[in-house]
Amino acid sequence: MTERWLVTGGTGQVGQALARLDIPGVEVIAPPRAELDLAALPDLDPLLEGVSAIVNCGAYTAVDKAESEPLMARAINTAAPARLAAAAARMGIPIIHVSTDYVFPADGHGPRREDDAVAPVSVYGQTKADGEDAVRASGARHAIVRTAWVVSADGANFVKTMLRLGAERDSLNVVADQRGCPTHAGDLAAALAAITARFTGDAQQASGTWHCSNSGETTWHGLATHTFAVAADCGMKVPAQVAAITTAEYPTPARRPADSRLDCSRLSADFGIALRPWQDAVDEIVRQLAGRAD
Ligand SMILES: NC(=O)c1ccc[n+]([C@@H]2O[C@H](COP(=O)([O-])OP(=O)(O)OC[C@H]3O[C@@H](n4cnc5c(N)ncnc54)[C@H](OP(=O)(O)O)[C@@H]3O)[C@@H](O)[C@H]2O)c1
Repeated sequence: MTERWLVTGGTGQVGQALARLDIPGVEVIAPPRAELDLAALPDLDPLLEGVSAIVNCGAYTAVDKAESEPLMARAINTAAPARLAAAAARMGIPIIHVSTDYVFPADGHGPRREDDAVAPVSVYGQTKADGEDAVRASGARHAIVRTAWVVSADGANFVKTMLRLGAERDSLNVVADQRGCPTHAGDLAAALAAITARFTGDAQQASGTWHCSNSGETTWHGLATHTFAVAADCGMKVPAQVAAITTAEYPTPARRPADSRLDCSRLSADFGIALRPWQDAVDEIVRQLAGRAD
């Protein structure tokens, strides 16, 4: 029997990657914002007839803009997951909810484990942390999957911004004192599919929180320099100089954790999932954007 998964945020990096997967026995339904507005959700019960899982990839992801639009960020990142999870509980189906490394505090050291205390320092992080809590409190069987630094050949992300700026400028300044783990949207989507399949296939699968990013670690500066090395190899124009600067030298409206590396060992232990090194993932994206994909 074919399962139907409702994926929100189907036009985003992760949602698109999930919708592109060919998952045997699964029909992915990914309505665009015009058909399912997370800021103004309709009565969900009719929509969930025949649906076997919700995968919530939709989010207000503009981290800096959220500082001046807290109500909209809260509607999408907190109220919407609460409504989706409550509906999942009523329908007896699981919800797989994607969250973020930005729930962690500005200071302290990674790699962060799932049980480490959260203490968000931005509106985005706070609304996502509250969204997690709402899913946990809903009574629905759930997986909360925290990821970080999502990159892909689609949509807006740091790798694409670097390539665009690098083509325009001879030098760039990039923050070198924030550490994290880049995550390929396609790798995350495959992990989400495996987690969702476990929840729909095994009624005993316990709810929980898992971390999921590509393996290894870097800084924004490290990610930029690696991106440019691959881009140069592909014949793209890159800046002559990529200077390492501090967070203090690049003030932004939202504060970010200095070290939000994620410890993904629980995902490996519980689901047998370990993502490839981030460098391999970034290589694939840059080569794809350069038209050099194999
Ligand atoms: N991007 C990152 O670096 C990052 C890092 C850590 C965690 N995450 C989490 O990973 C998940 C997926 O992120 P992503 O990188 O795929 O983000 P993304 O590319 O920015 O996509 C966000 C998606 O949410 C949708 N959305 C926003 N507001 C909506 C609304 N009112 N109604 C319906 N849909 C709405 C967007 O639709 P439109 O196309 O119509 O705007 C888009 O499909 C999110 O939970 C995010 O918090 C992301």
